[in-house]
Amino acid sequence: MNTPLQIPARTIMTPGPVEVDPRVLKAMSSSILGQFDPSFTSLMNETMEMLREVLQTSNHWAFPVDGTSRAGIEAMLCSVIEEGDKVLIPSFGRFGGLLTEIAERCGADVHLIHCEWGKVFEPNDVIKEMKRVNPKVVAMVHGDTSTGRVQPLKEIGYACREMGVLLLVDAVATVAGTEVKTDEWMIDGLITGTQKCISVPAGMAPLTYNDRIEKILLERKSIEKGLVSSEQQRLAQKDRRIQSNYLDLSQLQDYWSPARLNHHTEATTMLYGLHEGLRIILEEGLANRYDRHQKNEQALVAGLEAMGLSLFGDKASKLPTVTCVTIPEGINGDSVRSMLLDDFGIEIASSFGPLHGKIWRIGTMGYSCQQRNVLLTLAALEAVLLRHKAKLHVGEGVQAALDIYKQSEKVEA
Ligand SMILES: Cc1ncc(COP(=O)(O)O)c(C=O)c1O
Repeated sequence: MNTPLQIPARTIMTPGPVEVDPRVLKAMSSSILGQFDPSFTSLMNETMEMLREVLQTSNHWAFPVDGTSRAGIEAMLCSVIEEGDKVLIPSFGRFGGLLTEIAERCGADVHLIHCEWGKVFEPNDVIKEMKRVNPKVVAMVHGDTSTGRVQPLKEIGYACREMGVLLLVDAVATVAGTEVKTDEWMIDGLITGTQKCISVPAGMAPLTYNDRIEKILLERKSIEKGLVSSEQQRLAQKDRRIQSNYLDLSQLQDYWSPARLNHHTEATTMLYGLHEGLRIILEEGLANRYDRHQKNEQALVAGLEAMGLSLFGDKASKLPTVTCVTIPEGINGDSVRSMLLDDFGIEIASSFGPLHGKIWRIGTMGYSCQQRNVLLTLAALEAVLLRHKAKLHVGEGVQAALDIYKQSEKVEA
């Protein structure tokens, strides 16, 4: 207890939290500013501006909610959904289940459709269901880390806009790792998280929404009891008000507006980290960043397959930031993960629900998504699997990944 923190060195190849650029950690050790200090509020404004660029939106509202990604999801859903609202949730993994749980707690009349884990929906199947259910909201995950799949959203977004349905999207696993076009895909409300491809510690959930959502927020706007001018005014707004105070987007947007109406106390150090993380993303450039994620994913996949391992799930919908590997017959998946961590300091992830014990999930996200990490992971995984008596094409994994890196060096030269 009395010894200073001693954090072991790790290579983190999970779907989050991932490694963080030392520049972010340095920014997070800066001294504290008061939340209304102009030096701090200008950082808030700059963060909003950078978020708009990263989320590819011209929405006015783009700011982080304090709390992990699910705080952002909950803020969006509980601020938009009212008791009895019809919400269609097409779910293709664990995080469709999270949307369902939160929507049900908001009192929604949830229409849940599933597709087999490892696949995603044909957009037309979702659109047909929208026509049948006529929901107020469609809530969907873009990239589901539990199955390593990415759902195409463009056609669904267009159909939602045409039918006057709101589209809310969990893009926690995709923003800053693969293309997410909020405006072009007509997404009304989008939530992400800091600890994945944005590569900042867990603790904030950046989100954005357009004026169709803002209209609902203003209709449901609540004013803190101590601040309303009359009891009548307070009672008048009671029926439709947003059930959460902390996650009430109508109050949060006032705090992020020039009026700076006091709500919570902003998480100073997290904001420094997010500000620096966004600066790094924009310095790299979105297109370069997506290319980097894709190249490292390709090398990882080539290496795993050359080693003789097989990947889980439908290839066409593979999420570039998460690779799901089938655990070979007779191999204890947890024992492999423990040995990777204990002997090599490398962390890969297990899996949830029906996939538990069947697949490992390897993330290639943000600062962790580097050639060095991919090669180390392949080499270490081969060594550990050999110790577990797996039958592999020895020596071929790292070579296949190196081939990808060498080819891309030639193309770039
Ligand atoms: C797709 C997706 N949505 C939501 C979440 C929940 O995020 P958090 O743990 O930051 O609350 C996760 C976390 O892994 C996720 O992968």
